[in-house]
Amino acid sequence: MHWSTILLALAGSSHALIRFQCSQLVRQRLDPLVNPGMVPSPHVHQIVGGDSFNTTMDPKTKDIPGESSCTTCQFSEDFSNYWTAILYFKARNGTYKRVPQLSNVLFDGAAGGGMTVYYMQDPLYDIPQQSSVKAFQPGFRMFIGDLNARTKQEAARFRQLTYTCMDDQNSREQETVAFPTRPCPYGIMTSLRFPTCWDGVNLDSPDHMAHMSYPETGTFESAGPCPSTHPVRTSQVMFEVIYDTSSFVDPADWPEDGSQPFVWSFGDGTGYANHADYVFGWKDDSLQKILDTKCYVNCPGAKTQSIEEMNKCAESFQASGKMVEINEDIDGWLEKLPGGHVANYS
Ligand SMILES: *[C@@H]1O[C@H](CO)[C@@H](O)[C@H](O)[C@H]1NC(C)=O
Ligand SMILES: *[C@@H]1O[C@H](CO)[C@@H](O)[C@H](O)[C@H]1NC(C)=O
Repeated sequence: MHWSTILLALAGSSHALIRFQCSQLVRQRLDPLVNPGMVPSPHVHQIVGGDSFNTTMDPKTKDIPGESSCTTCQFSEDFSNYWTAILYFKARNGTYKRVPQLSNVLFDGAAGGGMTVYYMQDPLYDIPQQSSVKAFQPGFRMFIGDLNARTKQEAARFRQLTYTCMDDQNSREQETVAFPTRPCPYGIMTSLRFPTCWDGVNLDSPDHMAHMSYPETGTFESAGPCPSTHPVRTSQVMFEVIYDTSSFVDPADWPEDGSQPFVWSFGDGTGYANHADYVFGWKDDSLQKILDTKCYVNCPGAKTQSIEEMNKCAESFQASGKMVEINEDIDGWLEKLPGGHVANYS
C-alpha cells in the first residue's frame, strides 16, 4: 500500500495538515545556510530533501527546484533542504559513537532514518485545520536554536525544541528541553518547531531568525496572535528526528556520576543547543496549493513518491558526483567528534 493511503486510512478524516517522511540525502559536515562555502563546516549534519544541496545555496543565483532532479521527501515537488545536527554516544572510556537514526512509525525503510516533516496550519493534529496561511517564498530560509545554549534559561527563548524519551515507537509524552536523564529503550525523538510569524518582507536575516517570530503571546499551539512586526502567519514547520538509543541503555555504559551520555555533533552535552535549518525549495506554488486545500496528509493534486523512490534519490545523489566528498570517519569509535569537538556542558 502507498504510504499516504495507509496514513489516510489511519486518520480517517479530512483536515489540512501534511506530515511526510524524508530519507537521508547525506550525512556530512556542510552547512550552506550558516557556513556557506565552508568545506567542511564546523560540525556534522544529517540533510534531507532536494538533490541540488551544495556547499553554497545563494538564493540570488540558485534556483533550487530548477536545479534539482529529485528529492528524498515524499512530496516529490518539495526540493527544500532540511537539516539538523546528529547525536553521538560518549562511552565511559571517552570515545564517541554515532547514534543511528530510525524512520518514523508508518515510514519504515526510509534510508538513514531521515526525518518526518510537518506543515501545519492550526495546532493539534486531530482537529480540522482551517486557518489561511501564507506559504514561504522562493529564497526563503530560516534557522532555529542556539548552538551556545547550555542552560535552561538560554534555551527558553525557543519555545518548542524538545526531546521525547521513547519506550516504544508510539511514545509521544513528556517532552523535555534538556536531554532525557534516563535510558530510552526505543529511542530519543527530537521535535523541532519553527516560529510561525513572518515579517512579510525579508526572505532571510543575518542570524537567519530575525525575519521570523513566535506569536506575541502563547505559542502556535495556543493560537496566540502574530506581533505587528511580524504580521504574516505561515504554516508551522516541524521536524521529528528519531535516534535509535536501544543499544545504549546498559547502565554499565553510562557515566558513573549518573549523568546522561549523549552529545550533539558539536559537543553540547546538555541538549539545550538543539537547532535546525530550513531552506525552502517547493516547486512553483505547490506548497501554497496544498495549504489552501482542505486535506489531511494525502492532498488531492499534490505529487508524491514512494519510499523506494526517495531512497533512490539519495543513492543517485551520492553516486553522481554532485555530492561534495569530505573524507573523514564519522561512524567509528572516535576520540573526538568530527571537527575536533569534545563533549561540553557549560
Ligand atoms: C571504548 O568503549 C567502547 C564501548 O565499550 C568500545 O567499543 C571501544 O573499543 C573502546 N575504545 C577504546 C579505545 O578502548
Ligand atoms: C556546487 O557548488 C560549487 C561551488 O559553488 C560549484 O562549483 C559546483 O558546480 C556546484 N555543484 C553542483 C552540482 O551544482
